[in-house]
Amino acid sequence: MDKKIQPDEKLAKILELEMLSVNEIIRERMASENAPRIPEVTSHLIGAGGKRLRPILTLAAARLFDYSGDKHLKLAATVEFIHTATLLHDDVVDESSKRRGRPTANLLWDNKSSVLVGDYLFSRSFQLMVEVGSLTILDILASASATIAEGEVLQLTVSKNIKTDETTYLKVIRGKTAALFSAATQVGGKVAGAGEDACKALYEYGDALGIAFQIIDDLLDVEGSLQKTGKNSGDDFRERKVTMPFIKAIKKSNKSELEFWKRTIEKGDQNEDDWDKALLLMQKHDAISFTRKEAEIWVNRAKLALRALPKSEVTILLSDLADYVLTRSK
Ligand code: IPE
Ligand code: IPE
Ligand code: MG
Ligand code: MG
Repeated sequence: MDKKIQPDEKLAKILELEMLSVNEIIRERMASENAPRIPEVTSHLIGAGGKRLRPILTLAAARLFDYSGDKHLKLAATVEFIHTATLLHDDVVDESSKRRGRPTANLLWDNKSSVLVGDYLFSRSFQLMVEVGSLTILDILASASATIAEGEVLQLTVSKNIKTDETTYLKVIRGKTAALFSAATQVGGKVAGAGEDACKALYEYGDALGIAFQIIDDLLDVEGSLQKTGKNSGDDFRERKVTMPFIKAIKKSNKSELEFWKRTIEKGDQNEDDWDKALLLMQKHDAISFTRKEAEIWVNRAKLALRALPKSEVTILLSDLADYVLTRSK
């Protein structure tokens, strides 16, 4: 059967040589001679692949401005390291047991190893970005790291609350996910000497793309399959995280439905068939399609931002990538 080549794969192909160098940097820097647990955990997670979307964004942004140096390679690796560190921490916080189709590090080893190896990867990412020697870039990536942590902490404090609204949800996902997407695109442009307007457009593209990406991720948690996403579905319900599909369904609840959400999300009293019931309520209130529509709005914003950037094969693929985020299943 013919497999359609998706825009992220097309971008990866165009940037193939650079991606090889980025992967080499990642391999080199994820090692540690002093603590064998570090390469065990990092190779388990990094060896499982991942879409490498964020480093691709950095390389693509640099390519848009015909960058011919090699600093973007370290920046792309930095961004993937930050991402990997947040995944290790996130799986502890979410008590997740599957990531990239494999048992999570917290399950295979323990929470302590995941937290500490995550810290190690964060530190390695800072070493890498310092080597690039730009305070502006350091500022963008350091700020993004702080914003990601803020997003995760905000989510922690608003979970289990069925009154969570879309504004709060947006704040959470803009922090925990979009901040790294927009930092990835921005630093690619900055290192290539892009002007202020272009960097602003790169920020806006990354921000909107990241928001759409996370909205769809939250949809995949509701209706995706482990086989494709490599993660367990229903995790958000079990963790009592009020993501967009839940917000949409809760908003339209009648009295008895509201009681259901109070029991399962607020009190955490969940029975075996409650997940199916939650799905039925989401279907009843069209929560899935309303959520998809919200993601579509952000995809259009991402594509609009691209208009301020140089026209090239890469810009077209970045536009296709935004569309693909809507239909992705992994
Ligand atoms: C997972 O990101 C974390 C989210 C922001 C939803 P990805 O879906 O990009 O994860 P990998 O790197 O491809 O595994
Ligand atoms: C992803 O959050 C954001 C970060 C890892 C910082 P989620 O918890 O929603 O993502 P998955 O589903 O575990 O990948
Ligand atoms: Mg998670
Ligand atoms: Mg999480």
